[in-house]
Amino acid sequence: MILVTGGAGFIGANFVLDWVAQTGEAVVNLDKLTYAGNLENLSSLQAEARHIFAQGDIGDHALVASLLTQHQPRAVVNFAAESHVDRSIHSPEAFIQTNVMGTFQLLEAVRAYWGGLASDTKANFRFLHVSTDEVYGSLAATDPAFTETHQYEPNSPYSASKAASDHLVRAYHHTYGLPVLTTNCSNNYGPYHFPEKLIPLMVVNALAGKPLPIYGDGQQIRDWLYVKDHCSAIRRVLEAGRLGETYNVGGWNEMPNLDIVHTVCGLLDTLRPRADGQSYATQITYVTDRPGHDRRYAIDASKIERELGWKPAETFASGIAKTIAWYLDNPEWVARVQSGAYRDWVDTNYAARAA
Ligand code: NAD
Ligand code: DAU
Repeated sequence: MILVTGGAGFIGANFVLDWVAQTGEAVVNLDKLTYAGNLENLSSLQAEARHIFAQGDIGDHALVASLLTQHQPRAVVNFAAESHVDRSIHSPEAFIQTNVMGTFQLLEAVRAYWGGLASDTKANFRFLHVSTDEVYGSLAATDPAFTETHQYEPNSPYSASKAASDHLVRAYHHTYGLPVLTTNCSNNYGPYHFPEKLIPLMVVNALAGKPLPIYGDGQQIRDWLYVKDHCSAIRRVLEAGRLGETYNVGGWNEMPNLDIVHTVCGLLDTLRPRADGQSYATQITYVTDRPGHDRRYAIDASKIERELGWKPAETFASGIAKTIAWYLDNPEWVARVQSGAYRDWVDTNYAARAA
């Protein structure tokens, strides 16, 4: 079996669901269940013996050590993190605590466990760290896309904390020989995406008749990858990645934020037209920019394609259509995640942004 951390969050839950469906191998899922963790994402696994859930913190060394001893996983995949840039600007401490200290404690527990394995299981063990393209910083319009050798230049407390965790993972390989792999992926979208992030926020605000807040001029560029493609990339790197290597994962799909929002509005106009016949795009509102906002990210994913034969299965057109359909088909999920704590965050982040 494998141990996954953060498997009740957006990408982790998609990964766990796909893992059980596609490999048949059991998975222990360690998740603290912060505001971003939601067991409802995994409700289809309720009667599934191959999914074992444990609530807890990756920074709890004793808990991680006991889970490793009890379940003897052949691999650990680390998704657990604080993941939202805007929250890291308002309250950076949790990012340092989980992304830096938590990853450190997790690595320490894994190192002790791995050190005690018999030689063949020790040789086959893997620690896969899930990271982000944001560690590379921001690109100018004509710069080439990020390769794995691009210098680290993180600009937000979130990306700095992820960069720190990447460096720790690298150091545990270099110093102790821990068999690590790191993936640096671009912006994911798809089912179970928490509506604090751009695409799901636009969907829920559009349907609720609320403003669609565009930071700054909306011309910031991101590369977008359907979440199931990220999950298949991680499975492939786990299976065949070279030890100590990092792999960039992306969708070859750079788009300005404003184009993303217009695409979302266009799909909603077709699938769930507004009662007054107007486009949801009329709800677009320009608001004060994110401090330190990175202008452009772009991923060169040729290494993972060349070495491991991985390519995304979805285009942006197919992935976004599936995503919008999922949100329209799951209004109960959408309603339940918009709890009081969610509304408090929306007030904190958007109230001070003058339209
Ligand atoms: P998310 O915020 O949706 O989920 C994070 C999960 O981690 C939640 O279930 C939360 O409860 C859990 N968690 C948080 N702190 C924890 C702790 N101390 N111990 C145990 N569990 C804890 O995040 P996501 O978008 O699914 O991202 C998952 C990972 O992928 C993160 O490491 C993130 O940096 C990385 N990543 C995300 C994207 C993206 O576009 N969302 C892109 C590239 C990389
Ligand atoms: O690049 C990978 C990263 O993508 C991951 O590491 C992060 O965990 C993930 O949250 C995501 O970070 P971003 O900051 O790019 O995602 P977010 O959805 O918050 O914002 C996407 C873009 O949209 C960004 O340029 C900011 C802008 N935006 C966002 C929100 C929430 C808006 O214009 N308005 C908004 O209300």
